[in-house]
Amino acid sequence: MSRILNIISSPRGEASNSIKLANAIIDELKEKDSAAAVHVRDLTKGPFPYLEEVHLNAFFSPVDNHTDGDKEAIRHSNEAVKEIMDADVIVIGAPMYNFSIPAVLKSWFDHITRAGITFKYTAEGPQGLVTGKKAYIAVTTGGVYSSGDAVAYDFVTPYIKTILGFIGITDVTIVRAEGFAVADLQATALDKAIDSIVL
Ligand SMILES: Cc1cc2nc3c(=O)[nH]c(=O)nc-3n(C[C@H](O)[C@H](O)[C@H](O)COP(=O)(O)O)c2cc1C
Repeated sequence: MSRILNIISSPRGEASNSIKLANAIIDELKEKDSAAAVHVRDLTKGPFPYLEEVHLNAFFSPVDNHTDGDKEAIRHSNEAVKEIMDADVIVIGAPMYNFSIPAVLKSWFDHITRAGITFKYTAEGPQGLVTGKKAYIAVTTGGVYSSGDAVAYDFVTPYIKTILGFIGITDVTIVRAEGFAVADLQATALDKAIDSIVL
């Protein structure tokens, strides 16, 4: 039985195309493995806090020295790290916001990218410690970024691939639904993306 972690970063609920696309990916995963268990982490409901001094102090000090304040500050991060470590497959819904990812998703990445826990430094350079996972990213955009002039403005897919690779998740499939703000494309954008899913 595979364990699927579904990360939601659109606040639009049932209207959200990234949620619909991620759900379509999850449905196909469940067709392959009917016993698959899905754990949903909706980052728009109780977002991870931006990293402040308390979080950094807790991240970079020995656990044995942690005060009650440090323990509270690091609680969100430890929960998020456990969720990703426990998963076999991670499905992330990622709408493009201002050419990049929503702040709630960036904040989640800031909490899961932890030296000594999800990556470590070696003589050969940094090494990711979150290994043996598969990730699918459901990327939704108003414009078109897979080809044409706007390719260079897509900071969603390069960033997500880079940060996941940095922590050890190198098997990453991007599924794009694009053109929700383009008259000729918006009606078919989601179905086209769902048809393009290859597990
Ligand atoms: C705050 C905000 C910023 C956006 N910025 C961009 C953008 O830079 N480029 C783009 O193509 N679409 C942009 N869009 C459109 C969304 O990427 C698009 O509507 C997407 O489908 C939203 O995903 P959702 O349906 O899961 O919420 C933006 C939408 C919002 C709400």
